[in-house]
Amino acid sequence: MEHERDEHRLRLSRRNFLGLGVSVAAGAAVGTLLRPGWLAPALAANELTEPPVLTSRKGVLKITLEEKILPVNVGGQVRNVWVYNGSFPGPTLKVRPGDQLLIKLKNSLAQETNLHTHGLHVSPSGNSDNPLLHVEPDETFDYQIDIPQDHPAGLNWYHPHAHGNGTQQIFGGLAGALLITGGLDKLDGIRHIDDRLLVLQSSQFDINGNVVTFGTGASGMGDPAKHTHFINGQLNPTITLEHDRLQRWRLLNATVTSLYQISLEGHTFFQIAADGNPFDEPVEMTSLVLVPGQRAEVLVRGGAPGSYNLQGTILQGPSNPTITLATANVLAKKGHGRNIPSTLIPLVDLRNFTVDHTRAIHFNAQGTIFTIDGKTFDPTRVDQTILLGALEEWTIYNDQTNPAVPHPFHIHMNPFQVTKINGVAVDAHSYQDTMNVPPNGNITFLTRFADFTGKTVFHCHIIHHQDQGMMSLFEVVAPNPYRRR
Ligand code: C2O
Ligand code: CU
Ligand code: CU
Repeated sequence: MEHERDEHRLRLSRRNFLGLGVSVAAGAAVGTLLRPGWLAPALAANELTEPPVLTSRKGVLKITLEEKILPVNVGGQVRNVWVYNGSFPGPTLKVRPGDQLLIKLKNSLAQETNLHTHGLHVSPSGNSDNPLLHVEPDETFDYQIDIPQDHPAGLNWYHPHAHGNGTQQIFGGLAGALLITGGLDKLDGIRHIDDRLLVLQSSQFDINGNVVTFGTGASGMGDPAKHTHFINGQLNPTITLEHDRLQRWRLLNATVTSLYQISLEGHTFFQIAADGNPFDEPVEMTSLVLVPGQRAEVLVRGGAPGSYNLQGTILQGPSNPTITLATANVLAKKGHGRNIPSTLIPLVDLRNFTVDHTRAIHFNAQGTIFTIDGKTFDPTRVDQTILLGALEEWTIYNDQTNPAVPHPFHIHMNPFQVTKINGVAVDAHSYQDTMNVPPNGNITFLTRFADFTGKTVFHCHIIHHQDQGMMSLFEVVAPNPYRRR
């Protein structure tokens, strides 16, 4: 099975190379695919593999991403999944601050789509990271996304964002990592640590291997306990570690609706980044909560030799099963115990600045109507107008109590610093762009609307809530030079 999978990936790489316009990055992609790990016969059965990598060259990543339903070996079976360039998850895009992304999106689905670069601090207008665009079936669209020179380095991602269609497209598999290199990667004590990408996805299939329509079948609203949970398109892959040696895991929750509490038996995590933003210091934890849309980077130190389950407890839905997402196999090897640095990258603490404006935002739902401040999404209605450069304090309320459902808040373009959870002050270790709002609870954050004007959105990152209305349009406007504030 593993051999078949490798064959499949290699075929894909050739296809990417020849057919799908990966001109600038093709060399890098093929180089990565052919690294010895893919061919080594000694590879453990079902050892964790990673999606193909497309790397920028001379400041540009020019690629075609084709969205299509294709038979792909996912979790050891050929299934008809919704994929970018035939890969589940999509290829990893690897860029640097200051780079330009030139992405030709080709829609070979039977429904409208578009592309969002989740976590990027870039323009939301024109053919940049514009969630209001419509790319119709058989159309192609040329995105140009300019990443600022001073952009933080870390793990971000890309996925479709066409209102009403996102649920099925992401449930089918359309998601990929977007890695910005630099920052922590260059830090003493971090840069020599091997890193691994772990893309979490969940889906549900009928007996023919087709992705079911989200929320139909036995599950009603889409119960994550009934989904199949993958890491990098594998079921319970093996992650090999060495005793006392550190590994850096970069986790992405690319599911539609699975809130996971993740832990590794016999081990702790040292979190070093959240949502593509570096921590100011490593934070040790026994488990990590990762809600849809969120990313976390953690260091793991191989414990006593043996086999350990990487467990995910699903925090919402009618049942809360604990599933095995992967198995860590710790070898008794020549690992050398490196120290974890005590400080990382300093946080510019927004609490030291004057707040220009305060807002309260209310999430709620009744049946299948999901609202923000009592309204469902309307792409023609601007709900919040914000002055460019303003430092704002927002409190997001989850008013839904019956049933009690969490709503992970996400905002495009500018990350935020959480300052309170349910009114109690907290000290954040980084900015983030996605944060769960517990039922009947609230979060408060500070954020500066820096660098970019234009219209974009915030929403619940449980994608079916978003598609059913829980999304809101805001506009950042340049201050009127003739008006005194
Ligand atoms: Cu990943 Cu608007 O979202
Ligand atoms: Cu986003
Ligand atoms: Cu929600």
